[in-house]
Amino acid sequence: MSITAQEYARRRRELMAQMGPNSIAILPAAPERKRNRDIEYPYRQDSDFHWLSGFPEPEAVIALVPGRAHGEFVMFVRERDRDAEIWNGYRAGPEGACAQYGANDAFPIGDIDEILPGLIEGRDRLYYDMGRDADFDRTVMGWVNSIRAKVRNGAHPPGEFVALNHLLHDMRLYKSAAELKLMKRSAEIAAGAHRRAMEKCVPGMYEYQLEAEFQHEFIRHGARYPAYSPIIGGGRNACILHYRENDALLKNGDLLLIDAGCEYQHYASDITRTFPVNGRFSKEQQALYELVLASQLAAIAEVKPGKHWNAPHEAVVDVLTQGLVDLGLLSGEVNELKQTEAYRRFFMHRTGHWIGMDVHDVGDYKVDGEWRVQEAGMVMTVEPGLYVSPDDDSVDDKWRGIGIRIEDDVVVTKSGRDVITADAPKTVAEIEAVMAEGARTRVAVGKRKQQAG
Ligand code: GLY
Ligand code: MN
Ligand code: MN
Repeated sequence: MSITAQEYARRRRELMAQMGPNSIAILPAAPERKRNRDIEYPYRQDSDFHWLSGFPEPEAVIALVPGRAHGEFVMFVRERDRDAEIWNGYRAGPEGACAQYGANDAFPIGDIDEILPGLIEGRDRLYYDMGRDADFDRTVMGWVNSIRAKVRNGAHPPGEFVALNHLLHDMRLYKSAAELKLMKRSAEIAAGAHRRAMEKCVPGMYEYQLEAEFQHEFIRHGARYPAYSPIIGGGRNACILHYRENDALLKNGDLLLIDAGCEYQHYASDITRTFPVNGRFSKEQQALYELVLASQLAAIAEVKPGKHWNAPHEAVVDVLTQGLVDLGLLSGEVNELKQTEAYRRFFMHRTGHWIGMDVHDVGDYKVDGEWRVQEAGMVMTVEPGLYVSPDDDSVDDKWRGIGIRIEDDVVVTKSGRDVITADAPKTVAEIEAVMAEGARTRVAVGKRKQQAG
């Protein structure tokens, strides 16, 4: 299961068709980044670069040159180097870039200053994402200036500089069949990890001990890294939207909010589940949980071709505002409360985002000032929540410190939607059943150990 060479070639072809003649696009690979002293963060290729090539190495540059007689797909890559490869792993080298990654022409990255200006020269339009990498910006302008310096010799520098991401990110928004397969696998692995966390959770554990269960499930299924820093927040920590410490004790009677997803072959999943640490929802926890769930289901029903991007969010606002009034957390007239966005005290983020190779994926949310219309192949998250601050003395004590979010990943299909994270237990009954089963398994294992011991 992966993206074929043919699909990468098709993407490049389609991009070049949109770039038009007499243009060139330049994309750098992601740089390696130091974590501390001489240790690097795990390397992750830039998503655009990977989407066009599948090439996994740093210190590389792609040039796409539509109509170039000697080949339109040019790569600059690290040379093979026996010593470096013994220490740091394989390199494709220019030969491998052609043979394995479909480059028509490939050169050592060290030769780029001599070769790339020659590819730019004579082209009217340069596609490049200025402003993402200051060092590379300077390098590109250096190449352009080296051509400008030769205009009296008849050199023709590009006159137009165009952001590549307008074309490229719109293409990435529509996922192919092969991409959807990878996204489903990513979602399936993450959903299994949420189920495992529910089975393992008991009062007295630390949040990071559940984080370990996620790592275990992700890695054993080939998803080496999480798609983002997991949020594992018990009790009032659930009310911190980007909580990352994950080091508190999980207490009997508290809810636990877990927002965790993995990256599988460069595709992200993003799931949030909220469940009681002791396996049973209290009355207040259940009341708020059912409200968030009702809003999420209403939002998911708004995912289908023809609906606009904001339709799920509007559904959430409708359901939450009415529910907060019914529960006595807001008072007033529902329409007016919606207009004044009174719900924002308890629900302060948006209902979702595009998801793909990047967890907050690329693609515009508005087109010509209007919310974008959903189309088959787009994938989004639906993630409403309610967070009652522990210090909010304007609400009844019984609600304070409850934080809930429920998040699924949803594909827009031709006829509607596909919730690809559906394997993660979500209803109160499902969650309580999975947690009770986990408790039974613990007892059975404990007994077996006792007998054996
Ligand atoms: N985990 C990041 C988000 O839900 O958007
Ligand atoms: Mn999300
Ligand atoms: Mn999330």
